[in-house]
Amino acid sequence: MAKLVINETNATGHIEPEIYGHFSEHLGRCIYEGLYVGENSDIPNVNGMRTDVVEALKEMQIPVLRWPGGCFADEYHWKDGIGDKSKRKKMINTHWGGVVEDNSFGTHEFMELTRQLGCKTYINGNLGSGTVQEMSEWVEYMTFNGVSPMADLRKENGHEEPWNVDYFGVGNENWGCGGNMTPEFYANNYRRYQTYVRHYDDAHPIKKVCCGANVDDYHWTEGVMKTCYDHVPEAFHGFMDLISLHYYVHPDGWEKKGSATEFDDDTWYRTLNKALFIDELIRKHSAIIDQYDPEKKVGLSVDEWGTWFTCEPGTNPGFLYQQNTVRDALVAGISLNIFNKHCDRVKMACIAQLVNVLQSVILTDGEKMIKTPTYHVFHMYRHHQDADLLESALTGVDTIGPKEWEVPAVTESVSKKDGIITITLNNLSTKDCEEVEVQFADLKAFEVCEANVVTADDMHAYNTFEAPENVKEVAFDGYKICDGKLMVTLPASSVVEIRIK
Ligand code: AHR
Repeated sequence: MAKLVINETNATGHIEPEIYGHFSEHLGRCIYEGLYVGENSDIPNVNGMRTDVVEALKEMQIPVLRWPGGCFADEYHWKDGIGDKSKRKKMINTHWGGVVEDNSFGTHEFMELTRQLGCKTYINGNLGSGTVQEMSEWVEYMTFNGVSPMADLRKENGHEEPWNVDYFGVGNENWGCGGNMTPEFYANNYRRYQTYVRHYDDAHPIKKVCCGANVDDYHWTEGVMKTCYDHVPEAFHGFMDLISLHYYVHPDGWEKKGSATEFDDDTWYRTLNKALFIDELIRKHSAIIDQYDPEKKVGLSVDEWGTWFTCEPGTNPGFLYQQNTVRDALVAGISLNIFNKHCDRVKMACIAQLVNVLQSVILTDGEKMIKTPTYHVFHMYRHHQDADLLESALTGVDTIGPKEWEVPAVTESVSKKDGIITITLNNLSTKDCEEVEVQFADLKAFEVCEANVVTADDMHAYNTFEAPENVKEVAFDGYKICDGKLMVTLPASSVVEIRIK
């Protein structure tokens, strides 16, 4: 039997809410249809934002939203998306599906969306094809509270007060779609561009995100850190608050990817094994960052992660629309447990993407909306947001799955907030229940105040517009308290949350 030992007297870090962040790009039906339907739509909306989606995301406690890309960010010219909508420029979205982008969702609309969601803003700037002046003016437009050409333009466009930009990305994937740069070339550009991302409001300094590596490109992390650090170590912490990392799980590799809904046992384990790889990536990239920043002032922002399958048959291949099964719930549960455990370095993570694209929490079809299994995991795990990570360790866990793609049967993380301990456990087995004995360092008298589970009898189960509740969060009763220990029986392929006080 597996044993989980929790030292509730030892908080080892703080879990930033932003670890539960999301990403929305001008890609497929994420922004248009998914989030924004326009003021004149028959779909209920407030200022163009669909009410059903906004309400669901608020319930899930979305903490931060990244926009406008992705690859789209380094082609996006923000002035195309302000002012009279009928006069905004139309363009072809060359990256994603070759559709017409009418720029009806721009800076004002994004700020309105995040206002309705009550979440922080993460704007990704254009370093790949934009100028320093353009980036600098965007920041001035959004955040300057005084007399200036850009602040005046914002006021002319109907917004008197500046907005808060909480995070600003200086380029996206500049090793690839953001300009195909070398680490040194990008880093020198980063040094230059970030200089003009000004803090106009000391009460709300903008946290700057430097473009980090793709997967295991440690050479990129080394090159960027070295070049950024060179000559200005004393200024270093003023200009790089976070560095990003992007990692997607493709069960059959980048070329083939694999179906979102049809998979066998081996593919299940291969997918989860690949999800677990994020742990090694975080450790190895962090070890490089540690050489320059041993005090861990520079956070890691895993601002694109999740499953990337072959898109659903019959849909535009450039729209990246995919279904979401119990397997996605496990990938989410596993990844979020790992991010929690690395909260000393991981300060933000944004799953890709929010609605209708890749591992979404929400899917829409016209006026219909469904919550995916991944949504329910984020909803359960919201109790970890802003909590203290507790020391915890599992022993006696079986290793399961085919030799090449072995995984531990159970993963976990534990946190404490407002006197309540939240334990999240994943059972990675396709068939077997897992018994876990949970023991605390000092705590002997306790009660379970809440317990929930996301699972289904069939690991392939997913929600459809006809059957939206095939997989959902339900109350969990597979536990008992014996002699000061909590005995848990995790159903096969499940994500479980147990809260103790
Ligand atoms: O999320 C889809 C794409 O994946 C993003 O645009 C890009 O940054 C990444 O390659």
